[in-house]
Amino acid sequence: MADLDDIDEVKKAGKNFHEDIPQEKNGFFLKGSANYDWGMKNRLSSIFNPVSGNTLMLAFDHGYFQGPTTGLERIDVNVLPLEPYCDTLMLTRGILRSLVPGSTQRSIAMRATGGPSILRELSNEIIACDMEDAVRMNASCLAVQVYIGGEYETQTIHNLTRLVDLGLRYGVPVMAVTAVGKDMARDAKYFRLAARICAELGAQIVKTYYTAEDFRTITSSCPVPIVIAGGKKIPELDALTMARNALDQGANGVDMGRNIFQSDNPVAMIQAVRKVVHENASPAEGLAFYNDLVAGKA
Ligand code: R5P
Repeated sequence: MADLDDIDEVKKAGKNFHEDIPQEKNGFFLKGSANYDWGMKNRLSSIFNPVSGNTLMLAFDHGYFQGPTTGLERIDVNVLPLEPYCDTLMLTRGILRSLVPGSTQRSIAMRATGGPSILRELSNEIIACDMEDAVRMNASCLAVQVYIGGEYETQTIHNLTRLVDLGLRYGVPVMAVTAVGKDMARDAKYFRLAARICAELGAQIVKTYYTAEDFRTITSSCPVPIVIAGGKKIPELDALTMARNALDQGANGVDMGRNIFQSDNPVAMIQAVRKVVHENASPAEGLAFYNDLVAGKA
């Protein structure tokens, strides 16, 4: 039954992604989410803005496997000033409890798997946060790393399905983070495969990287919302362009870290990303806004 040739098919005869036909929403603003229980819909609505349909998640969970990442040495100093401008904070429970004020109005995407450090085989992750504790922290979703094609692929899939089962019990969505490890290809073929597997196995949100080619085949063949990671730091205009392109091709937001907190001006950059995500700004408009903020004109 396994058919390796099939995952290569993009525009060839026999496969049609109907990229021009948006998926029917069936009464709830978010794709694929109409049949969930009230609590899960409410949590999703605290992540995705019901007006724009999109989210700006600020990702700063990198320390869970690589320690004090550049830009995250002092989360109280470097990251908390960004908090007012995002929709969702993606972080670990250690950072939440030690540094984030309980008065925050932002929703929480809680890192819920971990294990190996960057010095070891990254795919060897296990569940690292109990669902009861996630509910205690008022998490709006749990983030689970899934290594399709990785050495511990099945174990990471089991982490996902176990947390999906618990999330359905408590009304907490699970975001599958399609992880590429240190040397797997970051192309549409890989993310189509990984995103669809995660959605089929119950993830309510899927996180991928943006691909310059065929990104819409990833979003159109994944029945639940996709958000993109930012990846390594690139020039501000390039990061804004990547976000715009992803949104225009069916993504429902960004889960961006380094391209915000490693920017020369993170507070300006997060506001520029916000304009793209929620106000449909072009990359040029976003960059102009960034430059105005840096110059103190906006
Ligand atoms: C990586 O494993 C972390 O989970 C990050 O949340 C994710 O990569 C997004 O951050 P960045 O935009 O820096 O890639």
